[in-house]
Formats: sequence, C-alpha cells, structure tokens
Amino acid sequence: MIVGIIGGGQLARMLALAGQPLGLEFIFIDPGAGISAASTGQHWQGPYDDPELLRRLAATADVATYEFENVPPATIEYLARHMAVFPSVRALSCARDRLQEKSLFDRLGIPTVPHRPVNSRAELAEAVEALGLPAVLKTRRLGYDGKGQIVLRAPADIGTAWERLGGADLILEAFVEFQREVSIIAARNRAGEVRFYPLSENTHERGVLAFSRARPGDPAAAEACRYMGLLLDEFAYVGVLALELFDVGGRLLANEMAPRVHNSGHWTIEGSETSQFENHLRAVLGWPLGDTAPVGYTAMFNCVGYLPDPKAVMAIGGAHWHDYRKAVRPGRKVGHITARASDKDSLEPAISALKAVLPGHVFD
Ligand SMILES: Nc1ncnc2c1ncn2[C@@H]1O[C@H](COP(=O)(O)OP(=O)(O)O)[C@@H](O)[C@H]1O
Ligand SMILES: [Mg+2]
Repeated sequence: MIVGIIGGGQLARMLALAGQPLGLEFIFIDPGAGISAASTGQHWQGPYDDPELLRRLAATADVATYEFENVPPATIEYLARHMAVFPSVRALSCARDRLQEKSLFDRLGIPTVPHRPVNSRAELAEAVEALGLPAVLKTRRLGYDGKGQIVLRAPADIGTAWERLGGADLILEAFVEFQREVSIIAARNRAGEVRFYPLSENTHERGVLAFSRARPGDPAAAEACRYMGLLLDEFAYVGVLALELFDVGGRLLANEMAPRVHNSGHWTIEGSETSQFENHLRAVLGWPLGDTAPVGYTAMFNCVGYLPDPKAVMAIGGAHWHDYRKAVRPGRKVGHITARASDKDSLEPAISALKAVLPGHVFD
C-alpha cells in the first residue's frame, strides 16, 4: 500500500518511520529541497497545490493525508474527488481558522478562551474594551509555534500590534492565567472506532513547545476526552486529532485543535503501546486501531534551534534520540528526545540528566 502525504517535514518522516514495518510505502509532496522525510519515501518536489503532482498522487497512492493544517483546502478537495483522503476538508478548514475553530467550540459547548473577531482598528478597540488587557491578538490563519500572535499588555501596544499583524482577519483573545497547558490526542478510524491517549502536560517557551510529559491517570483527562469525543463526532473524523487546552484551576478551556499528529504526542513512539503515527496510518487506511495504553512513564524534550551531542543524550539511561535531519536554524524544531522509565521515580533522574545536556530550556 502507498500512502501520499502532503508535506515532508518531521511529522511526515515519523509517519513513514511508523508505517514501514507495516509494509507501507510513502510519497511526500513538498516544495522544499532536502526535506526531513526525504530518506523515508519518494519526494515529489513541487507546490502543495500542483495539479500535475496531485493528479499523479491520486493515480498512484491508496490513501492520502497531510502533516500540517496550512495545506490549501483546495488540495484536499481535489484529492477527495479522486481518492480516499483523511482528515476531511471540513475538519481541515475549521482547524486552520482560529475564529471558526472557537465558534465550533462554542457551538458544541466546549468551554474556550473569551474571544472577539477583529477586522478593523475600531473592532480591535471594542474587543480590548470587552475583554480587557492583557489580551492576545492573533492572525486567524497560518499561525504556528507562536508566530502571528502578539500579547497586548498596555493600551500603547494596540497600535503596533495592529500594524504588525496586517490589520485584518484577526482574533483577540483574553490572556488566560492558566496553571498548566495540556493536550489530548485521539485517533478515530474509518469504522468509527476511537482510542484516546493519556493526557500530555506541555510547557511552551516563546510560543513553541519545549517539553511534554505523559500524565496517565490525570484527573483532567475525563473532561478533555469528553470534548475530544464531541469534536470527533462532529466531523465523523478519521485520523489523529489533537486538542490543546488551558487548565485554569482544574477547569479546562480549549485553545486550539490540530487535525494531524501532534508534537505533544511524540512521546507515544516509546511511551505507548501504539504510537500516534502508527494509529494515524491505521485510521486513514481503515485498519483496526492499536492499543494506546502507556508503556512506563515518559517525557519529551524538543530540540528547538539546536542539536545536542547525540552521544551525550544516548549515554543517559532511558533516553531515546530523534534527529529530524533538518538544517539547524534559530527557532526551528530539529529533533526531540524521549525519556522513558518503568516507574515514576526513576523518570526524574533521566529528566534532570537531560536538562544538563540540553541548553536553553526554562522549566517549571
Ligand atoms: N489566550 C491565551 N492566553 C495565554 N496564553 C496563550 C493564549 N494563546 C496562546 N497562548 C500561549 O501561546 C502558545 C501558542 O499559541 P497557540 O494559540 O497554541 O498557537 P500556535 O500553537 O498555533 O502557534 C500557547 O500554547 C500558549 O502557551
Ligand atoms: Mg498551539
């Protein structure tokens, strides 16, 4: 079987690495040269909406999927007319627009961050009036890793933020003083079978995920799974879906969803019976899903803008090294490390040892 993936970054790479033992082959459509996924399948270089590449993909692959939500919806619409492609364009279109996404949370009764659409300077002033400061001004589309968003702390920030974000198709959100950030990841296959992973607890630095910890048995999981279930039902979703939430005094507020495998689920490669990557493939292929039960205790460090000495990492017991084969640039995710231990207490020494070899992290 051949799986076509729109995008050839590290998520596509890890999907292919999970799919190869299952006998799957991969094609990546990506305009970049030297993509992360290059060594794990065929790279068809060109724009994500290249008609000829898409036509060839539909003629060659058994199923298509994508690794990021900034794929043009027209690409998925075209593929849907010619082949099986998951997740659906409806889920994609909603997830790539912060306003649509939050309107859906509202409609489904999933508590979310107070927000207002902003399309003019006057609307921004009204939104600040309504929500107060601090607040976060975000572009509705194409933002990722904290890009396309500015925190407004004082009235003087309003004008500069307005100009820097281009002045239209924006959303203002109240700034949430959360105790922690968590995410819930689930897979739903073509037959409607659903599996939830344990909750992840996530630490961001400058808007980019730095550290995740699997939290099996977390008391917030039941609420997170309920919200996730509502979203999966709404879309009759197929594939892996991630939902990021803020925990405010034990109450969860939905931040955003991602219709794909998610960075806060990378620990599932070593820390779950079946990884999010394998389950995404099983889901889109219409295969039975794998068990999502945790295997030991796991935490993950992202390598953002640097790669440590791999040998120093591998010398640490329980540490698992992942190199995305990307050129190192500031702010770029180029690898990750998972630490796994069979009991809770022995995870801590591994985490401490990793902190010592990983520069630039700020932790709890
Ligand atoms: N309304 C908010 N209140 C407080 N912190 C926020 C808010 N929105 C975003 N953040 C912080 O910025 C991070 C990135 O924002 P997010 O909306 O998830 O965008 P993306 O991940 O697409 O860049 C969040 O994980 C959180 O740490
Ligand atoms: Mg996010």
